Amino acid sequence: MASALTAVTLLTGGGALAVGLQLATAPPALALDNGINLTPQMGFNNWNSTLCGDQFDEAMIKGIADAFVDKGLKAAGYQYVNLDDCWALPERNAAGDLVPDPVRFPHGIKALADYVHGKGLKFGIYSSAGDHTCDVRGFPGGLGHEQQDARLWASWGVDYLKYDNCHNQGLDAKTRYRTMGDALKATGRPILYSICEWGSTGPWNWAPSVGNSWRTTGDISDTWQSMISIAQANQGLAGYAKPGAFNDPDMLEVGNGGMTATEYRTHFSLWAEMAAPLMIGTDLRTAAPETLEILTNADVIAVDQDPLGRQGSVVSSEQGLVVMSKPLADGARAVTLTNEGSYDTTITATAQTLGIGGADSYTVKDLWSKKTTTGNGTVSATVPGHGTAMFRVTPSSPVPPPTGVTQLSDLPFGSAANQWGPVERDRSNGDHQPGDGQTISIRGTTYAKGLGVHAASDVAFHLGGACRSLVTDVGIDDEAYGNGSVVFRIYKDGAKVADSGTVTGKDPAKRLTADLTGATTVRLVVTDAGDGTRYDHADWAGAHVACGSGPATGTYPLSSLAWSSAGNSWGPVEKDMSNGDNQARDGRTITIAGTTYAKGLGVNALSEVVYYLGGSCTSLTTDVGVDAEANGRGSVSFEIYKDATKVADSGLMTASSAARHLTADLTGADELHLVVTDGGDGTNSDHADWANPVLTC
Ligand code: GLA
Repeated sequence: MASALTAVTLLTGGGALAVGLQLATAPPALALDNGINLTPQMGFNNWNSTLCGDQFDEAMIKGIADAFVDKGLKAAGYQYVNLDDCWALPERNAAGDLVPDPVRFPHGIKALADYVHGKGLKFGIYSSAGDHTCDVRGFPGGLGHEQQDARLWASWGVDYLKYDNCHNQGLDAKTRYRTMGDALKATGRPILYSICEWGSTGPWNWAPSVGNSWRTTGDISDTWQSMISIAQANQGLAGYAKPGAFNDPDMLEVGNGGMTATEYRTHFSLWAEMAAPLMIGTDLRTAAPETLEILTNADVIAVDQDPLGRQGSVVSSEQGLVVMSKPLADGARAVTLTNEGSYDTTITATAQTLGIGGADSYTVKDLWSKKTTTGNGTVSATVPGHGTAMFRVTPSSPVPPPTGVTQLSDLPFGSAANQWGPVERDRSNGDHQPGDGQTISIRGTTYAKGLGVHAASDVAFHLGGACRSLVTDVGIDDEAYGNGSVVFRIYKDGAKVADSGTVTGKDPAKRLTADLTGATTVRLVVTDAGDGTRYDHADWAGAHVACGSGPATGTYPLSSLAWSSAGNSWGPVEKDMSNGDNQARDGRTITIAGTTYAKGLGVNALSEVVYYLGGSCTSLTTDVGVDAEANGRGSVSFEIYKDATKVADSGLMTASSAARHLTADLTGADELHLVVTDGGDGTNSDHADWANPVLTC
């Protein structure tokens, strides 16, 4: 899937690349990772069932905590019982402290938190990174009061903060959210930090080192249309999720009455497949048995809570039939087959499509019917309109990485030895506990992906002869404060194919590349540089392999090829039509300033579409522009990347711009990335066309 190794990148999902590449020059500074929430949070929040209604009070919250225990939700893994907006009075007290609403919470918040803790559960609260919270009956926000509010919550025993974005006075989001993150950390109490910035500034680019989850979209409502369009917007962001840091497509509506049971099963299945927070939004005291049955499906919850912490990604999407595949820690995949249309349809995906081709046989478990079969790994189901079938597909033997570019941190380990703590995925090695490292950082350059190890370390991956090459940066993590010295070596089967020489904590990142053609196994070895292993926190930063072959020699309209990933802020990426916002195939004939095109891709900023080229292509030519469908609005820019390097840029284009023609040299590239930015003014009406793009291989 994603490639790229310089800076914080992860090239699925809108505009990531463009933003990420600018981060490389910050001074060395450790990130704010708090080492909690290694799998997505599970719990309850009152908002979707009560808003600020009178029924939101102490009795309700206590009743929810009781229901967690009595109705099997605690046993199923739900942990947090959380308050949303309107728990406080509209004014602070004379000391400047927030005051619980005495009508709703006559015994105060601490007593309520104690009650929840008494049930073996955790307690969460809400505020906004602005001068007021969101509801008209809301209360003063945390902006400018971060330390004071964080200290107050910690003194009450708060375990979780949802921090909203209303009345933010237009101040920089990252700064506002970091300030509260710092304040929470300074309390010394572990507090899960749930950022609720609605996806407005592309928080996936900055939030992983600041909070434990970040909302990616506006608010969900209890309708199929709302739920599925939020799922679509969240699907393209798969590459940003990791243990301790998850995309949040908002809380669950399951049980609130606006969708059918089939639609609620889709909602729950997709949220688990996307490693989303599972925050129940219905009043559990009165929930129907059918609602509880959905919310406590242990197999589906196990997918959400899988320790690998990966978000599933879309591996095929045709005419509203969407297949997602989520890597799991044991080498299996969780698979969803979703029918966004209205009529029963059969959806099928092969083991190859799921990314686990190459085993002799597979066990396939239906996670709703619980039926298990053995076969060649093809999954198929007749799925009702708005329905989702969900499976766990387990290969009988280790399989090679799928065709494309794969981060090593997304693959199961063949073996993993490390002198201190475990080998960490997408964070440095903090010595002791799983997840105690920081965002990978070498002399101030941060990396979204990679492996954090500690000498002596030896990590092996099964490649099964499928891969061409490995590319990685290496260095000692900033966590070692300039200390440490190691040697990085890469072995192709028994033979050494790359050697960094001595790398110290003062050296900048070094790039290593290795030819892996034909290799059964690759091993990544770190040893101390002859001076003992003290401070040897070492990073394989952005380490990725390119596997399988690219397109055969020829000339291809891009819409005739399968992409490796495709993300948009609105609706799916469309082939041979413009993007009409929400539904699959709701666009029109691609039209730029009066010129129509039969072929192309219709996207909607922020967008990134990735194709695997496997080193076999030479160039891309395309027209670009804002589609006529945007009705005179919209402003975007089009950028083409050869792996991590930008090779073409349209500059800013508006609805009145004539089509521009771009050409890009792609010789030797593993991947082609097509990025559309929002032109710096938000994503409103940014319907953008890659018109008649032709790839030569
Ligand atoms: C915003 C948030 C919601 C909810 C309300 C409360 O809209 O996105 O999730 O917290 O505020 O007023």
